[in-house]
Amino acid sequence: MKITDILQGEHIVLHNLFDHIEKVAPKLKTLAEIKTIASLMESLINAHGKVEDEMVSLPLDHYLEHIGQLEKFHYEHTEINENLKKIQSSKSIKEARKLLLNAVVFSRCHFDNEERNFFPLAEKFLKNSTLETLGKTYFEKRKKILGE
Ligand SMILES: [Fe+2]
Ligand SMILES: [Fe+2]
Repeated sequence: MKITDILQGEHIVLHNLFDHIEKVAPKLKTLAEIKTIASLMESLINAHGKVEDEMVSLPLDHYLEHIGQLEKFHYEHTEINENLKKIQSSKSIKEARKLLLNAVVFSRCHFDNEERNFFPLAEKFLKNSTLETLGKTYFEKRKKILGE
């Protein structure tokens, strides 16, 4: 299986998580609940983004730079994580809920952008055999990349 297919599969799982967050967020009554959900989302998104950066962005850096997209992809990963981190220091339920829902919207846009632009670019510029090899080593490398 190609690494791009694996990462798109992760997007589907994360979209399910986002659906759930959007459903429960209005009903959450305490800051602690919002912070726990934000921390879960941060950990999953961070793991996905790190693997994406290491296994797909890195081999494509040269092409991304050429089309002026390199900064944008790195910036979006950082931005999502920073927004989720802010929730942990928030003192207001209203603000934390807003930050959480904003992070969901931003993440969905980021995923859409990757599916429309980034993955097709990877499939155009990386050989099929390279994408398959990256897919094969995904499980082994994932642990290493995430420092587990
Ligand atoms: Fe990403
Ligand atoms: Fe992604």
